[in-house]
Amino acid sequence: SSQHFDIKPIAGRIGAKIIGVDLSNNLSDEIISDIRKALVKYKVIFFREQNLDAQGQIAFARRFGELTTAHPTVPSLPENLEILDLNYGRTANRANIWHTDVTFVDRPPLGSVLRALVIPPSGGDTVWANSVTAYEDLPTPLRNLADQLWAVHSNAYDYAAAAIDLSQEILEHRAVFTSTLYETLHPVVRIHPESGERGLFIGGFVRRLRGLSQNESNEILKLLQAYVTSPENTVRWRWKVGDVAFWDNRATQHYAIADYGNQARHVQRVTIVGDTPVGIDG
Ligand code: SIN
Repeated sequence: SSQHFDIKPIAGRIGAKIIGVDLSNNLSDEIISDIRKALVKYKVIFFREQNLDAQGQIAFARRFGELTTAHPTVPSLPENLEILDLNYGRTANRANIWHTDVTFVDRPPLGSVLRALVIPPSGGDTVWANSVTAYEDLPTPLRNLADQLWAVHSNAYDYAAAAIDLSQEILEHRAVFTSTLYETLHPVVRIHPESGERGLFIGGFVRRLRGLSQNESNEILKLLQAYVTSPENTVRWRWKVGDVAFWDNRATQHYAIADYGNQARHVQRVTIVGDTPVGIDG
């Protein structure tokens, strides 16, 4: 809790609503510091029905650090270099895969701030998973294994594993997404730079594990990923227009549920610059 606002945890292990903060205000350093503490503790925090425009979203996110450009490969809006425009209603390309944002670069984002502009009458929720409690859930032998692993992350698609009859639209998006290929190595168990907690740092951009075959990598990743995405470890958010979600990209994965057919869903994201992930051996 904070003396500046109320914190209402939503699920047992992740996610809290922050009540009594207007993000369009020029918030004090004390409030920003308390929001940051809530972010690190609850891993994703939600602000209902805010009155933020893109500039307000950028200004709020900047209080937590420098912003990245919208995305390493996907172009930003011409008027706002920091905004990643996710207008899913008009595209078949959706974020319905468990992932941590932009882990294929050496310094993945610290966190993301997402703002809802258009939300379908039903459907289009987002789910987040706590990668710290996932690590804590591992039986000791699996924890010891995970502690030793390093993963190769890349934005390149695994074409061998993908469906073959993709729409032109999806193929075009993929061409943009992979226009510059990135590949980097991160520890599978990451020490959170602020909390010191250990968490599983994997998700949708992991392609394989160092020193293991593709088959061995897939099997072990499937095993670890099941701990991350177990329902006990998640929180699901039913969006309203104006809602803002702020997640700690160092301790979560998320999945945007694609259950709204051709209805409009429009959200915008900004991401805060992060640091180089550090494993348990430093
Ligand atoms: C994302 O994956 O960053 C977007 C999540 C969403 O659209 O809910």
